[in-house]
Amino acid sequence: MAWLITGGAGYIGSHVVSDFQGAGLSVVVLDDLSSGLAKRVPKDVPLVKLDIRNTDEVAKVMRENSIQGVVHLAAKKAVGESVEQPLMYYDQNVGGVISLLTAMAEANVYNLVYSSSAAVYGSPGVAHVNEASPNRPESPYGETKLIGEWLIKAQAAATELKAVSLRYFNVVGAGDETLGDTSVNNLVPLIFSALENASAPKVFGDDYPTADGTCIRDYIDVRDLSGAHVRAMQWLENSATDYEVFNVGRGVGVSVKEMMQVARKATNIEFEYEVVGRRPGDPAQLVGQVENAHRDLKWQAKFGVDEMVTSAWQAWRAAHD
Ligand SMILES: NC(=O)c1ccc[n+]([C@@H]2O[C@H](COP(=O)([O-])OP(=O)(O)OC[C@H]3O[C@@H](n4cnc5c(N)ncnc54)[C@H](O)[C@@H]3O)[C@@H](O)[C@H]2O)c1
Repeated sequence: MAWLITGGAGYIGSHVVSDFQGAGLSVVVLDDLSSGLAKRVPKDVPLVKLDIRNTDEVAKVMRENSIQGVVHLAAKKAVGESVEQPLMYYDQNVGGVISLLTAMAEANVYNLVYSSSAAVYGSPGVAHVNEASPNRPESPYGETKLIGEWLIKAQAAATELKAVSLRYFNVVGAGDETLGDTSVNNLVPLIFSALENASAPKVFGDDYPTADGTCIRDYIDVRDLSGAHVRAMQWLENSATDYEVFNVGRGVGVSVKEMMQVARKATNIEFEYEVVGRRPGDPAQLVGQVENAHRDLKWQAKFGVDEMVTSAWQAWRAAHD
């Protein structure tokens, strides 16, 4: 018996692989390597190079490896790109979930942990969002993540499937120098990328209705986040409920200007940042209420922003030196 980690060669998926192995579970990685890296997958873990939308082959992988459950991370994740290529995002992310659920039904696999996103909330207009807060995604990316949740919820109601959707907030950090985030979509890699190019990191808007005028986010260490998947998997095995959604963050808001100061300390570089105009679709504040995960998953974040950004910087340096 083994767990199938789709997207297990990716940034977050490779940490999930490590934590599942640490919990004594066998894992198989399924990844098309479109953004993932084969070298992130440990040598003792089978890596199947496959597109999640290839339903028949995915079902075959499940049967051949006696898969007991799936952590589904394989997806496209860049908000801006999703605005430019909405059909590709719907095809990959929504088509991917439909294909996965079909393959799971064919192969009689009934446990699923799904990577969702705080992007499903859009601009909430409240200090903290809980799992019952309205869903108003503001990009095709956020829409595809929400539709994925709906599909999974409906399939859990209709079949023996049991599933958990984890709504990740802003993920930072690295459990190992080889497992860092190589994409430059999020604030911290964008800061590092600017520093590498000897340019000033950009702050997108300092006229928001927040204490220092910059956007506030809930940053979560990837090491804490991956641990939440192990707890979600255990919850699936012990709970009588078919389907549940959990916010996975720290419940602590940190502004972009504060993160610039954290990055100065972590990198030991006294850089200046450049304030430019707002980006469309950036909510002023997006911070999670995370009590449900504390109570039901018995999970709590341990790492703070200094540790996250320091570990991310070490991995960035290792990958770019
Ligand atoms: N990084 C974040 O801040 C964040 C926040 C919220 C949610 N998420 C979600 O977490 C998941 C993982 O994100 P990540 O940051 O590790 O991204 P990533 O790009 O590093 O990982 C995604 C992985 O999926 C694989 N993949 C993509 N399309 C595929 C397909 N059609 N078939 C098979 N494999 C495919 C890629 O090769 C890659 O290894 C995604 O579902 C993303 O939407 C990420």
